[in-house]
Amino acid sequence: MKDWRRPRPATLRRQRILRGEGSLDGRPQSIWCDNDYLGLSHEPRVREALTVAASLYGTGAGASPLITGYTEAHRHLEERLATFTGRDRALVFSAGYLTNLGTVQALAERGDTLIEDRLNHASLLDAARLSRAKCLRYRHADAADAARLLQEHHARLVLTDGVFSMDGDTAPIAELAAAAHTRDALLMCDDAHGIGVLGNQGGGLLEEAGLLQADVPLLVGTLGKALGAQGGFAAGPADLIEHLLQYARSYGYSTALAPPLAAAADRALQLLIDEPEHQARLRDNIDYFRQCADQQGLPLQPSRTAIQPLILGDPESALAASRSLSEQGFAVSAIRPPTVPEDTSRLRITLSARHTRGQIERFCGALAACPSVKLAQ
Ligand SMILES: Cc1ncc(COP(=O)(O)O)c(C=O)c1O
Repeated sequence: MKDWRRPRPATLRRQRILRGEGSLDGRPQSIWCDNDYLGLSHEPRVREALTVAASLYGTGAGASPLITGYTEAHRHLEERLATFTGRDRALVFSAGYLTNLGTVQALAERGDTLIEDRLNHASLLDAARLSRAKCLRYRHADAADAARLLQEHHARLVLTDGVFSMDGDTAPIAELAAAAHTRDALLMCDDAHGIGVLGNQGGGLLEEAGLLQADVPLLVGTLGKALGAQGGFAAGPADLIEHLLQYARSYGYSTALAPPLAAAADRALQLLIDEPEHQARLRDNIDYFRQCADQQGLPLQPSRTAIQPLILGDPESALAASRSLSEQGFAVSAIRPPTVPEDTSRLRITLSARHTRGQIERFCGALAACPSVKLAQ
């Protein structure tokens, strides 16, 4: 029988139990590493939308969306997403990860070539593998390198994160759009961490850059981060989205997103659109964190998003910092290879609209006092 054990990593990953908002593994903790950027997963009106939908539809969808799992809640959400993203049509999947797997698998196959950023999220890398297309990776955020690969290999698809999940920086999206357009390739942007954070209306990197469907045909995102729910979506030209509905296997061969979560995401999206204060509070917190961190001499990365990594180098330093912060009541997880490249283990710090200025000041003070953070300064 195959031995499933792998060489033991420096320290194995483990789960911790979150209770309510304020305790992790039984210890009071404030959270500095989740993706609930606007705090909408605890918003009373979002929770109410979920409860009302649960009494109407039940807890789960009970079937694939192509059987009987598709409800009015899904349809409303898709319509709102299409309008919000300025695209013809949107399709809701049961996770962002599954959106990427299904979308790329439906658009590329063996014999095709696709190109993607070296630091794209794991779901885009896995999606390329699943499609069996040849996958070439260009240097991180380097549109000239992408253009070179497009020219040399006649790639059919270009895949990029909008906001990079571990670094918080953004793709050179206008330059990538121009390069893809010149070579007649389809550009797909996964803006899981940009939606709700960037752009005047919270529409993400594409809204901020003023890029429309004609420039970046396919926008994918998740409902599980700034929108505080769960699920994912692809938005784009009607014929392309219809193609995904027909051929994305993770769409048709999986139980539809639970209707209460579709209703919660829909309500959260409505709040994002109608109440700019959620996004404004987040932005204010990001700026304040950077200001406090700078005063403490912390080595920040050039990120203007909710993701503010502190790169510490080796996994042990990142783990030691995470443990020390946890003892003081701050939860920040250590991110290590293979999630990030060797020698770039880090604290992936995230900001949320829920944080207060006082919390940010105390957190920055605790970070600066961490011995392994001091060593990296
Ligand atoms: C860029 C990016 N895309 C997709 C996903 C997956 O989304 P979900 O958590 O909804 O499966 C993530 C999640 O971490 C992500 O960071």
